[in-house]
Parts: sequence; structure tokens; C-alpha cells
Amino acid sequence: MSKPRLQIKDLQVAYGQSTILKGIDLSVPANELVCLMGRNGVGKTTTLKTILGLLSQTAGSIDMDGECIDSLATAERVRGGIAYVPQGRDIFPNLTVWENLQVSIVVKGKAARQHLDRVFDLFPVLKEMLKRKGGVLSGGQQQQLAIGRALLLDPKLLILDEPTEGIQPSIIDQIEDTLLALKAEKRMSILLVEQYVDFAKSVGDHFCIMEKGSVVKTGTIGELDEGTVAEFLTV
Ligand SMILES: Nc1ncnc2c1ncn2[C@@H]1O[C@H](COP(=O)(O)OP(=O)(O)OP(=O)(O)O)[C@@H](O)[C@H]1O
Ligand SMILES: [Mg+2]
Repeated sequence: MSKPRLQIKDLQVAYGQSTILKGIDLSVPANELVCLMGRNGVGKTTTLKTILGLLSQTAGSIDMDGECIDSLATAERVRGGIAYVPQGRDIFPNLTVWENLQVSIVVKGKAARQHLDRVFDLFPVLKEMLKRKGGVLSGGQQQQLAIGRALLLDPKLLILDEPTEGIQPSIIDQIEDTLLALKAEKRMSILLVEQYVDFAKSVGDHFCIMEKGSVVKTGTIGELDEGTVAEFLTV
């Protein structure tokens, strides 16, 4: 068996005195999609930020392709192939669409340019709106911009935090199609935080459910049955 793309063991994180992650184990196989799920406030975003090195762990380890990345700064992790689409999208509202995309070109260098066409194929609206300020785009368009910007990095691991949150249904369908297209390319692994069970079932290969800073259930997406949803996900 090849090494998983991402392997997290016993990850612990605290905000000041309060422990938020109490020992997370999580594995993302190469070129597969794992849905990280759980109710509000259980620690999903905290887990993602720690993978990026935006928060520091108090214990545990994070490996990419079998190499420990714990001591790497965020920029090195991004250069090493981890791209992050944060919750709430976080594009630059005062920069144009083109300038927002340039951010990835700055990080990745000219190599990012060759992926522009692919991003414009996936999200034609971005090409039409290159000169518009990010802040005037709709929520769904901003989400597409955030995902497009991440894809320019040609990541080995794409991390998305609730890309469908507050987005209109037609754009949710487009994001779903995009994730399915990316999976079909078999070039990257995807770690997706997602609250919508139907969306998770459509795009996911595996699920991992958290509760109060711990992983309480994992399985293949087919094992995400009604009982599990009722117990751990329904609000
Ligand atoms: N900056 C912070 N300082 C202190 N506590 C925080 C901070 N950010 C988050 N928390 C707490 O950490 C816990 C986990 O938060 P986190 O954002 O990881 O949850 P989440 O699963 O992503 O939730 P949601 O579904 O609402 O996005 C919550 O109890 C939250 O209140
Ligand atoms: Mg969150």
C-alpha cells in the first residue's frame, strides 16, 4: 500500500487554556476525497488551519506523502503542495479577479500560468469578470474565484472549508461538478469540510465525523447511513 497523501496522528490543539482538538487521527489517500463532517464548533476549521500551519499543535504529527511537515511554516506547506480555500472564501475584495488570481502566480511562479486555462474552463465566469473587483462578485462567484486561485497552485492536496455554505443552488451544482472533474483527473487529494450530506455523498470517497474535538466515526461514503447522520450530524 502506498503512503496516504495526508496522515494526521493524535493531533492536539489548544486556544489558550482550552483544548480544542483532543487527538485527531485522519488520513487522506492519494487522489481520493475525504469529507470532514460534524456539527458547528466541533473543530473542523481548527483541524484545517493546523494542517496549514496557521495554528500550532500541542501534540501529534502531520505527514504529507510520508514526510513529517510539523516544523514547516505555512508558506512552505503551500509550496509543498497544500492549497487552502478558507471558510467564508477570503478573497481580496479590493483587488480585481485577475489580481486575486495573480496571488497564486506570485506564490507558484510562472508554472501557475499554465493552469489558467483549466481554471477558466472550470469557471468561465471568472474569465468574463477579470477586471471586476472581487468584492462586487456574488458569493458563488467569490467561491469560484477562491477555488480557482487554489487550483492555480496545482496542489497535491486541496483543502476546502464549507465551499457550499451560503451559496445559491446553481453554483453549488457547479462546485459539485468541479470536484467530480478534479477527482476524475486523479491528480490531487481533496479534504472537504461539508455540512450537506447529499453533497458529501455525491463527491466523497470517505467520511470522517468529529464531535467536540475528537473523531467519532470514519468510513467509506457508502457507510454514511441515516443512523450516523441522525446521531452525529442532524442539528
Ligand atoms: N480564535 C479562537 N479562540 C478561542 N476559541 C476558538 C477560536 N476559534 C474557534 N474557537 C473555538 O474552537 C472550537 C472549534 O471551532 P472551529 O471553528 O474549529 O469549529 P468548526 O467545526 O469549524 O465549526 P463551524 O461548523 O461552525 O465552522 C469552537 O468551540 C470555537 O468556539
Ligand atoms: Mg468551521
